[in-house]
Amino acid sequence: MDKLSPRHVAIVMDGNGRWAKQRFLPRIAGHKRGVDALKRVVRLCAQRDIQVLTVFAFSSENWNRPQDEVSGLMELLALALAREVAQLQKEGVRIRFVGERQGLSASITKGLDEAERATAANTRIELNVCFNYGGRWDVVQAARRLVADGQAITEEALSSALSTAHCGDPDLIIRTGGEMRLSNFLLWQAAYAELFFSPCLWPDFDAADLDAALAAYEGRERRFGKTSEQLSPE
Ligand code: IPE
Ligand code: IPE
Ligand code: MG
Repeated sequence: MDKLSPRHVAIVMDGNGRWAKQRFLPRIAGHKRGVDALKRVVRLCAQRDIQVLTVFAFSSENWNRPQDEVSGLMELLALALAREVAQLQKEGVRIRFVGERQGLSASITKGLDEAERATAANTRIELNVCFNYGGRWDVVQAARRLVADGQAITEEALSSALSTAHCGDPDLIIRTGGEMRLSNFLLWQAAYAELFFSPCLWPDFDAADLDAALAAYEGRERRFGKTSEQLSPE
């Protein structure tokens, strides 16, 4: 059988706060190192011919964190938008931001649009950054769109109205930081994703951790409801 390698990998980048706490640093220091980890992992994924990487950066529920952490995360996003777009260009990364734009400041929204526009012709790897994203929000916005357009609600129509319709469903979802839950990430899209949970805190996630997840994926049998015998008849 051919070796299984994922076309689309999604990651719940969790554990920044604990990483900082272990070092007696403020939580935002962990988030800063989390941005460095993301830059590293985008490069590693491109080297491994992964076509789409979707990461969870800020959930609909993360607004409930202390005000200074929320504003620190917004500043970090603004800083990354200002600093990293040129590098994305150089590396052939097409970036898209997935999530509710309402509730974000006008300057951040403008930065998101500009980064998307600037990298729109890049083809080496697609990077989706889920920011102010929730799986339930996504299903509701898709359903509302279908209703507004007078379309019937079918699985196909709903899938194509989701905010990730441009890149299809993830093959592999990795969550770092040791928790074994989805926390409202890609709920619909995760229907047949393989799941991999890593105890590694996100700022420490490196090539060996990524390769451990890819090796685990390689050993999975994706049955999509069928029997094993149907997949590989003797
Ligand atoms: C993930 O790290 C980043 C965001 C949710 C923004 P956390 O900040 O959740 O880190 P832990 O889970 O507290 O360690
Ligand atoms: C999920 O992590 C969201 C992101 C990584 C952006 P959380 O740390 O917010 O998840 P819970 O609260 O532990 O479920
Ligand atoms: Mg967390």
